[in-house]
Amino acid sequence: MNDDIESRTAVLSLLLDERYSCRGFRSDPVPRATIDRILALAQRTASWCNSQAWQIWVASAAATGRLRGELVEYARHHAPQPDFAWPQYQGVYQERRRECGLQLYQATGVARGDRAAGERQTLENFRFFGAPHFALVTTDEALGIYGAIDCGAYVSNFALAARAMGVASIAQAALAAHPQFWRERLGLAPDRKLVCGISFGYEDPAHPANGFRTSRAPIAQATTWIE
Ligand SMILES: Cc1cc2nc3c(=O)[nH]c(=O)nc-3n(C[C@H](O)[C@H](O)[C@H](O)COP(=O)(O)O)c2cc1C
Repeated sequence: MNDDIESRTAVLSLLLDERYSCRGFRSDPVPRATIDRILALAQRTASWCNSQAWQIWVASAAATGRLRGELVEYARHHAPQPDFAWPQYQGVYQERRRECGLQLYQATGVARGDRAAGERQTLENFRFFGAPHFALVTTDEALGIYGAIDCGAYVSNFALAARAMGVASIAQAALAAHPQFWRERLGLAPDRKLVCGISFGYEDPAHPANGFRTSRAPIAQATTWIE
């Protein structure tokens, strides 16, 4: 039994350690059978009352290629209007945000104060970081915050399932910045709220944006025991 626990934990630990937000993909598509397996595993996600709030739109390589340029153009000319208000990062959250932003800029050679280069890197979000596929994760407005929580759990499981199959991914709130863009093209009903997107495909290990890993706060900082 102990061996079993160790080997099962080792698999989970490996996947958690290996997963990172990939921001530089190869262009070759992921086979449909692999994507179907990822979707089947992510579909096991728990949700409140088993409501399974998520409805996922998955893009083929052809559709991703078609939408990439359109979305970049749209994002250049429209202010973000997400369905869910974006967070206000203050205090320790702001520090953590700054740290991972700095890591990305250092890795990609964006100099401090170079706004044009920073904007170019931000626009990479709308190019899906070169990924051959993306998924849009939506919830039903009536399910409120818990629908969004269920979707968050789905996104995590999707990323781990993908990693298990050698597929890299990145969750992107940026892909939910322009719901109108998607509503017009995909016919999303007004009560279908866009939580985030996931770009995915095979990683380009040599891409500078993949050359860093983020840290995590110590457990003691995130946990309080009730004795
Ligand atoms: C819900 C969610 C939304 C995110 N949105 C973006 C995004 O729009 N653009 C981006 O580059 N990274 C995005 N990220 C990736 C985070 O920056 C990343 O998960 C975090 O810095 C931790 O790094 P890691 O994923 O490499 O462990 C998002 C992550 C999550 C979970």
